[in-house]
Amino acid sequence: MYLVSRTETFAKLFFIVSFTGLFMYVALAFYSFHTAYTTVSEMGKYQENNKMQNYDVVVERFDKDLKYILVWTTNSVQAESILQYEGQEAFIERDCPEINCYITTNKTILNDDYVNFDAIVFNMSIFWERGVYTKLPDRRAKRQKYVFYGMQPSDNYPICNRRIDNFFNWTWTYKFYSDIYSPFIEVKNLVGNVVAPNRNVIWKNDLRTSTKSDVAAVITKTKAIAWVLDNCGQNAYIMFAVPKLRKALKQFNLTLDMYGCGNLNCSEDGCSKTIQKEYYFYLAYEGSMTEDYVTAEVLKAYYNEAVPIVVGGADYSRFLPENSYINYQFYTEDKLAAYLHYAITNPAVYNAFFNWKKYYTIVKADEFKGYCDLCKLLNDKKKFTTFSTYENFRSWWYYGSLKDKCLPRGSTNVSEITGYMNESVRF
Ligand SMILES: *[C@@H]1O[C@H](CO)[C@@H](O)[C@H](O)[C@H]1NC(C)=O
Ligand SMILES: *[C@@H]1O[C@H](CO)[C@@H](O)[C@H](O)[C@H]1NC(C)=O
Ligand SMILES: *[C@@H]1O[C@H](CO)[C@@H](O)[C@H](O)[C@H]1NC(C)=O
Ligand SMILES: *[C@@H]1O[C@H](CO)[C@@H](O)[C@H](O)[C@H]1NC(C)=O
Ligand SMILES: *[C@@H]1O[C@H](CO)[C@@H](O)[C@H](O)[C@H]1NC(C)=O
Ligand SMILES: *[C@@H]1O[C@H](CO)[C@@H](O)[C@H](O)[C@H]1NC(C)=O
Ligand SMILES: *[C@@H]1O[C@H](CO)[C@@H](O)[C@H](O)[C@H]1NC(C)=O
Repeated sequence: MYLVSRTETFAKLFFIVSFTGLFMYVALAFYSFHTAYTTVSEMGKYQENNKMQNYDVVVERFDKDLKYILVWTTNSVQAESILQYEGQEAFIERDCPEINCYITTNKTILNDDYVNFDAIVFNMSIFWERGVYTKLPDRRAKRQKYVFYGMQPSDNYPICNRRIDNFFNWTWTYKFYSDIYSPFIEVKNLVGNVVAPNRNVIWKNDLRTSTKSDVAAVITKTKAIAWVLDNCGQNAYIMFAVPKLRKALKQFNLTLDMYGCGNLNCSEDGCSKTIQKEYYFYLAYEGSMTEDYVTAEVLKAYYNEAVPIVVGGADYSRFLPENSYINYQFYTEDKLAAYLHYAITNPAVYNAFFNWKKYYTIVKADEFKGYCDLCKLLNDKKKFTTFSTYENFRSWWYYGSLKDKCLPRGSTNVSEITGYMNESVRF
């Protein structure tokens, strides 16, 4: 009504002063724009008064077929790491099962209000920033899903602030019990289907069989264990274990050689070549004993014809083909050294560690697949509209004692600090 009457008046004015039809068109366009603009700001007022129920009104203005995902960032460096995925293209390029999703870090694209997003993803790394709790959304729509994205080991990175409880609706992590399960590596069968990680994987039953004929893999190798350090600050667990293992290996004239971080240097053609040519085994230490945490570290062995000696907190039978690795924690150092010596001196035994290649490939998982899964969840009407929340998120993420790991950072609240000091208060 408003638009029609104003435009009519305006049109009459134009006819009187004999302007052309083209100018009329321009005037009309201007008035439509003006009217639309007015509607937007009125809706802004509406939102303020009805914070939690406004979505259905506002959504009319966007592309109804798209699900909008906001990756919450607190600085431009984080935003840059998402730039490669910005928009809808990545979903199409990666052949996701559902492609009607749109990723952005721009909080303002939906009527300048982030309550209009279907999902907001919070990368765990932001929770270690100073004052992050003042940089989180200050309002949310009931229908929105807040998604915790965490790919760092929870034992090393517990989240302490109680405000994080009852904040997230979905989780997206390397832990099996996440809404979006996102492993670092995948084992596929020869037709390309993913068989692991899986809580109940059944491996082919002849993976332990050794055959005397096949000795190809061992030809150039002369040394026992390599370990390439990417991260120089290793934790106490492994630094206590290393001297023990070295001592045990010495009984068999075997060594554990560390590369990087001031230790040995890899050969000029790289660490991969060094491992491949010289070493029977590779120490695949995860840097953490967190459950379900198996990273691409094991690939340094699998990709280079070495057998991983895995050190981590996962149930590896759910992750890696049987008899393709040795689990450090199953043995004493002395027994482990004896076992390695036995395998090195018996090529048939050593070669059996590679039987998995007959049935499987082991690859790095595509990081974007989690976004595909998120898009699928957003399209799942039932899951999307069903209420869900992580009431005790902190102990879901890290179920050790938070008190042992959480200093009341920057707190000026006396009862919080005494609570922390007081053993009997669960922080
Ligand atoms: C975010 O989107 C708005 C439009 O809603 C645009 O004006 C602004 O430039 C964008 N910001 C960035 C950093 O791209
Ligand atoms: C999460 O943050 C880390 C550290 O800033 C970054 O390396 C990673 O790419 C981010 N991932 C996603 C999916 O945002
Ligand atoms: C121990 O191994 C080295 C090569 O790694 C070899 O040169 C040396 O002869 C071996 N010593 C014994 C006692 O076997
Ligand atoms: C490794 O390389 C660095 C720099 O090229 C050199 O300073 C160091 O002495 C080397 N270490 C060994 C053990 O060769
Ligand atoms: C998400 O969690 C919040 C906090 O518990 C809750 O208020 C909201 O209703 C939840 N939304 C959905 C869609 O599950
Ligand atoms: C201090 O923390 C306690 C919980 O430990 C809380 O109950 C109390 O309200 C807080 N006081 C202030 C002033 O924030
Ligand atoms: C520790 O906490 C318990 C339970 O809240 C309380 O009874 C006790 O007095 C506290 N002790 C100290 C030293 O604050």
